[in-house]
Amino acid sequence: MSSFEETEWSAVDCAADYLKKADAIIPQRPKLMGLLRSFYLHFFGDNLNSGQPRKIVELGSGDGAFTEELLKTGQNIEATLIDGSAEMLTRARLRLASFQGLRFIRSPFQKLTSNDAIPEGADLIFSVLAIHHISKEEKQELCELIYASLAPGGFFINIDDCIPSSSLIEDWHVERWRKEVIEKGAELGIEIDPQTYIDKHNAPEHRKNLETVAALCGTLDAVGFVGAECFYRDGIFTLYGGQKPAAS
Ligand SMILES: C[S@@+](CC[C@H](N)C(=O)[O-])C[C@H]1O[C@@H](n2cnc3c(N)ncnc32)[C@H](O)[C@@H]1O
Repeated sequence: MSSFEETEWSAVDCAADYLKKADAIIPQRPKLMGLLRSFYLHFFGDNLNSGQPRKIVELGSGDGAFTEELLKTGQNIEATLIDGSAEMLTRARLRLASFQGLRFIRSPFQKLTSNDAIPEGADLIFSVLAIHHISKEEKQELCELIYASLAPGGFFINIDDCIPSSSLIEDWHVERWRKEVIEKGAELGIEIDPQTYIDKHNAPEHRKNLETVAALCGTLDAVGFVGAECFYRDGIFTLYGGQKPAAS
């Protein structure tokens, strides 16, 4: 089992640097936020200020920007934000200070099976660019836990890094990403060297955990999810997920 403390994410500087540059590193962030919001409203957007709150869980929440996107819809939501980084959770608490019904839990994904941090009966468990940091075996274990924690009919959505099956195609995706990072950085006034992030993407320690979308969806199928597939893809970034059967 890998340890969160051994990763760069346990350092305060890493969290701060990512948050400063996230909108340029992932040029599609606004699009991905819009897709998550649209998914939520399509499947759960029926309890504005009424009924039981919907339980949502964000894994690897960072400073909570994606959870905020759902809270801003005004829907009745009870959110749990989980991250291994104390710095990220401090920033999430600040960012989301005006919202009610939130839980912030510091835990590495690798410890979630033993600490009951994920609430039972969640309607939606989602994650953004975090799960690819753990090994394939740890991903399988996490997906089993996510499945067990969801309410019947609940969904898991993961927005994450993926690789195509051909390295030729990956070269094209990465070159396109390089150009988009430069353009977005210039547009937003963020000083950024795309090569730093391309090197991180290619580093053996990072790469060994990356999978094709087909493999990622295959893990969901194996765990019992239905309708597992890629809902959106742009180069190395994908949004995929599946549903726990309503009658399980
Ligand atoms: C690239 S950041 C994404 C943050 C946020 N989801 C966003 O998109 O702004 C990855 C996040 O995953 C967290 N993370 C990485 N590996 C983790 C692990 N093994 N257990 C828990 N959190 C982890 C990091 O602390 C960081 O907050």
